[in-house]
Amino acid sequence: MDRMNVTEEFAGMQLPGHLHTPQSLQYAQEFPFREEDVVIVTYPKSGTTWMQEILTLIYSKGDPTIATSVPNWVRAPWLEHIYFKDNIKDEEGPRFITSHLPSDILAPALQKSKAKVIYIMRNPKDVAVSFYYFHKMAKFLPDVTSFPEFLKLFLEGQVYYGSWFDHVKGWYSQKNNLDIFYIRYEDMCKDLRRSIKKLCGFLGCPMYSGEVDKIEQNCKFDIMSKNIMVNYTLVPKEILDHEQSKFMRKGVVGDWKNHLTDEQNEVFDKLYKEKMSNCDLEMVWNI
Ligand code: A3P
Repeated sequence: MDRMNVTEEFAGMQLPGHLHTPQSLQYAQEFPFREEDVVIVTYPKSGTTWMQEILTLIYSKGDPTIATSVPNWVRAPWLEHIYFKDNIKDEEGPRFITSHLPSDILAPALQKSKAKVIYIMRNPKDVAVSFYYFHKMAKFLPDVTSFPEFLKLFLEGQVYYGSWFDHVKGWYSQKNNLDIFYIRYEDMCKDLRRSIKKLCGFLGCPMYSGEVDKIEQNCKFDIMSKNIMVNYTLVPKEILDHEQSKFMRKGVVGDWKNHLTDEQNEVFDKLYKEKMSNCDLEMVWNI
């Protein structure tokens, strides 16, 4: 099937042109965030959709009605997408907003507000693998012939949305400037219940144990995989081709071990050390 990728060049980054325009990006940078807003920020493939589901369920006290009847991109629209204006609620109360934008573009607008920010990080080796499969299915991303070819581009930061290293370092440097909560995909996989409770604490949403049970149950990988409001099967095949790869693909930690050769792993580790040497983020990925 033909690719439909039109590129939007922005701030040295490439973005899918069917979702981003100069106007939508300008609007995102000037967005007047409110104190009640909860903003999910991620580098792609780090657990964005999972967090959209968790937030929905926290504010529904575990009741899956909204999560199973409203698409995730309506519940927590992407700030920088052209559809944002149509989907963002105007009424008072918590609004969920999602973004993949880097900190130098987005943090200034957030600093003007007291909005809460949730930044999810994932082992970049697993991000690279997940992103590679996403390129296979997402017809708005460039065609990639092989994983080695994609990995090289990923390490060079020559992929859509830019460099993982810059994204993580940039957002981590905002730790004293924003009301920001950092969470790792791996911690969510290891102890989902604990992660949900910590999130509830950050959001100021006290929760009964039975409610946490329901949240935990309804955002598990196998449940989300079957939920058409979140597994992206509502999107036409011309845009996301699930025959190439599922959006809810594996949902595990460490799939990179099935994809990177020893040599690629060494190159990755070396670059990682170089790039992250000036970042005091505790790196616990066993990289
Ligand atoms: P994989 O491709 O490794 O399976 P994003 O939403 O940022 O695009 O991230 C997508 C990744 O998060 C995919 O990773 C997807 O399977 C994983 N994911 C989504 N929901 C999940 C869940 N409930 N549990 C574990 N992983 C999940």
